[in-house]
Amino acid sequence: MPSVYIKTYGCQMNERDSEAVAAQLVAKGYQLAKSEQQADVILLNTCSVRDQAEQKAFGKMSNLVAETRRSRPNTVLGFMGCMAQSRGQELIDKLPDVDLVLGTQKFHRAGEYLDQIFTGERKQICDTEEEKGSESTIRDHISIGKSVKNTVTAFVSIMQGCNQHCTFCIVPHTRGSERSRPIDEIVQECEELVASGTREITLLGQIVTSYGKREIGIKNGKSAFVQLLEAVHEVKGLERIRFTSPHPKGYGDDLIEAYGYLPKLCASAHIPVQSGSNRMLKLMHRGYTRERFLGIIEKLRNVNPNIGLTTDIIVAFPGETDEDFEQTLSLVREVRFDNAFVFKYSPRQDTPAAAMADQVPVEINEERHAKLLKAVTDIGAEHYSQFMGQSVRILVEGTSRRNEQRLQGRTSCNKIVVFEGNERHIGQLIDLKVYRVGSFTLYGDPAIINLD
Ligand code: 5AD
Repeated sequence: MPSVYIKTYGCQMNERDSEAVAAQLVAKGYQLAKSEQQADVILLNTCSVRDQAEQKAFGKMSNLVAETRRSRPNTVLGFMGCMAQSRGQELIDKLPDVDLVLGTQKFHRAGEYLDQIFTGERKQICDTEEEKGSESTIRDHISIGKSVKNTVTAFVSIMQGCNQHCTFCIVPHTRGSERSRPIDEIVQECEELVASGTREITLLGQIVTSYGKREIGIKNGKSAFVQLLEAVHEVKGLERIRFTSPHPKGYGDDLIEAYGYLPKLCASAHIPVQSGSNRMLKLMHRGYTRERFLGIIEKLRNVNPNIGLTTDIIVAFPGETDEDFEQTLSLVREVRFDNAFVFKYSPRQDTPAAAMADQVPVEINEERHAKLLKAVTDIGAEHYSQFMGQSVRILVEGTSRRNEQRLQGRTSCNKIVVFEGNERHIGQLIDLKVYRVGSFTLYGDPAIINLD
């Protein structure tokens, strides 16, 4: 049987999709190749959120075409995911050597399409159609692509698509509208994962707080997402639950309270704020104000003062003035996030923001990005330094990617802690004393590992 190599760009949803495609192909008898050079099939799972991500994948595919067509002409090359969805046939027109373009609702068809290509039944396939029920097809698991390869933690896709239509964002075009899986199906997947050794599950979706709005709705004052959290919480043997990404609008009191009464729900939240300026938030079509966002943070900290908080921020959205940018800086200083992803605004095709007047010049974009990143990093460093000498409890995930001799895990509030341990610690909750603080990483002292 052939071997396959999948390279993933972008978010955790993409990692999860790649994993499901890999699992599907392995079930058909494929092997997972260790490198592109050894693979009979090379798939690039792409991201469209920023132009740079698209350029990277396109450049990579151009190189792969050049390399493989000379030395290994039978290698099958494919694009899948968001860029495949948004560009479709255009990718084949530009790179005629590409064999497969697989849209975001077609991941489960990878195996049959590759069969058709290998048997010569079809020469090239581009499928970016919508497919009803595709949200339930991302369910097979195999450990690839995660930053730490392990079975202790797993991603579970709970929904596909997004209805929010933020004016900067291409995702509604690439992922379609929101479709949620039923609660019992998700719970079953979680149970199966736990039975095979998983201790921590991250529920994934474009906007998880919109989960089941249409299909399930509010019951007893609880949103469908909170109902799902409660149901997953019941899974025996599961130690921890995380989710990403929520929308600030989805942080109703029901979700905030859930942090207080669901002990398995990790004390951490990645809540994309995007800007600290009300004027920008409105133009971005975010549906909340700075004040409302700050109110959510305050309530979360009231439930748990140690909750780990991270965010996404876009600088230089069209029309952003120095004053708007200062508002973002001041919000960052007020909230004091543990960490934040800071993005330079990148115009995306067919999004309202791309057509807005007052696009901000590249130099200002770069300048604001550097300034905000510095603020975020300084605040993060101060926050992390408080852990020096403290005891932290982590779930051990696996070997550290940088140094195979070391293990790593995360605290409930999502801090990575590296330590020298033994393979038998993997999957266990252990307490460590922090002896060194690195850049967004803690180092724990193995001397006081709790070996019970
Ligand atoms: N330009 C820059 N950043 C963007 N993001 C989404 N669209 C764009 C864009 N056009 C960022 C947002 C989002 C994260 C996943 O990517 O901050 O939360």
